[in-house]
Amino acid sequence: MIKIDQSLVDKLKGAHSIVFFTGAGISAESGIPTFRGENGVWNKLKPEELANFDAFLRNPKMVWEWYNHRKKVIHESQPNAAHHSIAEFQNHFEEVTVVTQNIDNLHRRAGSRRIFELHGNIERNYCVNCKTYYNEELEFKDGIPKCKCGGLIRPDVVWFGEYLPEYEFDEGEKASINADIFFIVGTSAVVYPAAGLIQSAKRGRAVLVEVNLTRTEISSFVDYSFTGRAGEIMPAILEKYKLSVVN
Ligand code: OAD
Ligand code: ZN
Repeated sequence: MIKIDQSLVDKLKGAHSIVFFTGAGISAESGIPTFRGENGVWNKLKPEELANFDAFLRNPKMVWEWYNHRKKVIHESQPNAAHHSIAEFQNHFEEVTVVTQNIDNLHRRAGSRRIFELHGNIERNYCVNCKTYYNEELEFKDGIPKCKCGGLIRPDVVWFGEYLPEYEFDEGEKASINADIFFIVGTSAVVYPAAGLIQSAKRGRAVLVEVNLTRTEISSFVDYSFTGRAGEIMPAILEKYKLSVVN
C-alpha cells in the first residue's frame, strides 16, 4: 500500500495549474527502455555515436537502424497506468500541462491534450538540407531515406549538443513557472536545459513532487519524494485526491 501524504492532497485541492514533467521512466512500464540506471540504453550504447548530428552524417544507416528499432518498440507498446492517470487529471483541474522529454507519443495516446515535447517526436522527420517535413512512412534505399532534393532525412528528435525546439521550451517554461503543483515523473533530471524547468517551477513557488523508482539528485530538493513505480504511485495520488473531494 502506497502512503500518500494528506498534506499533498490538501495542496492539490487548492491547485489550479498542474504540470507533469516526465522522462523515460514513465514509459518503462510500457516496455520502453530508459537511458540511465539499470538496463539503461546508455550503459550499452554510446550517445555520441547515435544521438549526435556528426555521427549521423558519418553513418546515417547505423543511426537509422537504431531509430527504426526504437520506433518498432514504441509502436508495439501501450500507454500505462501513469500516462492514463495523468490524462485523467484533466477531468479534475483547470490547467493540466505535460512537459515531456520523451519522443514516444504515449502521453498523447493516453489522452493528454496540452503537451510540450522538449526533445522532439519520433513520428516526425525532416530533410537536413531543405527542412521539408516527412511525417508519413519513409522510403529507405540502402538503409537511408532521402528527400526529393537529395538531402538526408533525419528523425525530428533533439540530439546532444542541439537546441531544444524554441516554442515547446518557452511554453514548457511558462507553464512550469505558473504551476501550483509540479510533478517530476520518471526522469533522472540530469539533462539540461530540460532539467532546468524544475528550478523554474521552484522559483515560481510550485510544490515539487517527485515520483521515481529510486532517489535521484533532486530528491532532497523537492517537497515530496515518492520512490516506486510511476504506474502505481500516479494512480494512487489521483485516487486519494478523488476520495478526499467526495468526502
Ligand atoms: P533516464 O533514463 O536518464 O532516467 C529515467 C529515470 O526513470 C531514472 O531516474 C529511473 O530511476 C526512473 N524510472 C525507471 N523506471 C521507472 C518507473 N517504473 N517508475 C518511475 N521511475 C522510473 O531518462 P530521462 O531522464 O528521460 O535525451 O533522460 C533525459 C534525456 O536523456 C532523454 O530525453 C534523452 C536522454 O539522453 C535525448 O535523447 C536528447
Ligand atoms: Zn530536402
